[in-house]
Amino acid sequence: MPNLLDPFTLRSVTMRNRIGVSPMCQYSSEDGKATDWHLVHLGSRAVGGAGLIICEATAVEPRGRISPSDAGLWSDEQIEPQVRINQFLIAHGAVPAIQLAHAGRKACTARPWEGSQLLSKAQGGWEIVGPSPIPFNDGDPPPHELTLTQIREIQNAFVTATVRSVQAGFQMLEIHGAHGYLMHSFHSPLSNARRDEYGGSFENRIRFTLETVRLVRPKWPDSKPLAVRLSCTDWYEGGWTLEESIELAKKLKAEGVDLIDCSSGGGTPKARVPVGASFQVPLAEAVRRQAGIPTAAVGLITDPMQADEIIRNGRADLVLLAREMLRNPYWPVQAARALGKADMLQLPVQYARAIR
Ligand SMILES: Cc1cc2nc3c(=O)[nH]c(=O)nc-3n(C[C@H](O)[C@H](O)[C@H](O)COP(=O)(O)O)c2cc1C
Repeated sequence: MPNLLDPFTLRSVTMRNRIGVSPMCQYSSEDGKATDWHLVHLGSRAVGGAGLIICEATAVEPRGRISPSDAGLWSDEQIEPQVRINQFLIAHGAVPAIQLAHAGRKACTARPWEGSQLLSKAQGGWEIVGPSPIPFNDGDPPPHELTLTQIREIQNAFVTATVRSVQAGFQMLEIHGAHGYLMHSFHSPLSNARRDEYGGSFENRIRFTLETVRLVRPKWPDSKPLAVRLSCTDWYEGGWTLEESIELAKKLKAEGVDLIDCSSGGGTPKARVPVGASFQVPLAEAVRRQAGIPTAAVGLITDPMQADEIIRNGRADLVLLAREMLRNPYWPVQAARALGKADMLQLPVQYARAIR
């Protein structure tokens, strides 16, 4: 079996190792455009040795932003700032990926450090949308139930954002189907009470996702991998389950998806999440073995031995780190040294002496 420092290839894209930066909203974009913050933030992690860098949730339309300062790709002006960043990431050995997203009923909030409360129209807020008029928090205003025409419009927004992602130079595209945002909210019976072809049965609840992937795949180059991040369980009775995730993963594979990024939760504030080291790894392992598709494991992976074990035992093909990467952009250097594999790490030449 490969180890953490071995390269990983999907289609014709090769990552220099199995360590990825998990997508992390920075709430620091200007009109959806990346800034110097993003260049330094993402660039540091490329210089630090990560094989894959998944840029933050990027809204396909303005209503799909979590906060007004989210990244977006709903307009051509948002392409250029990203080109510069991607060129830097590639020049320093990392594969840049984008995560295309729509926040659905969890949109329209203040930035976390400003309190995350729902924004009123007067505060620059907008109408939030979802599969059904069920709010995320009891007592909040219900989202507008999307009509069939509006569903198609959002799917088309995913397609145009995909075309812009190609122009921006991304090498992998991930569709955000996790954490209670629009796509996941279609999957889960907790947020989807529709009675048309987008609600009810499993086939109906996954229709929005499958159709979107079917529209996106032909616009994303054949040579480049397509991933989907799933919340693999709602951690709540009556919610979306791991078994459903495995069935969905099989169908996504048949549509040309190359990787399932296995997260969980976020769909209901009532979830009982068994948080702990590697707590989501069994989800990545189950999807990988039972759907026969490569997976990424994420969630409280912080230690080099822990990460290496996941790869060596074939529990996932990639590990993604989020908060640990914020604490330490040089985690890959330290992991390679701790595992006695420093000679395998490819670092920018300027930093080569750090691993000798
Ligand atoms: C600051 C921050 C922003 C995040 N933004 C996103 C995001 O844009 N998209 C996403 O899918 N997950 C997002 N997440 C979740 C992480 O990608 C990751 O799944 C989660 O933090 C668990 O990994 P960790 O234990 O290594 O932090 C975010 C997490 C943090 C800490």
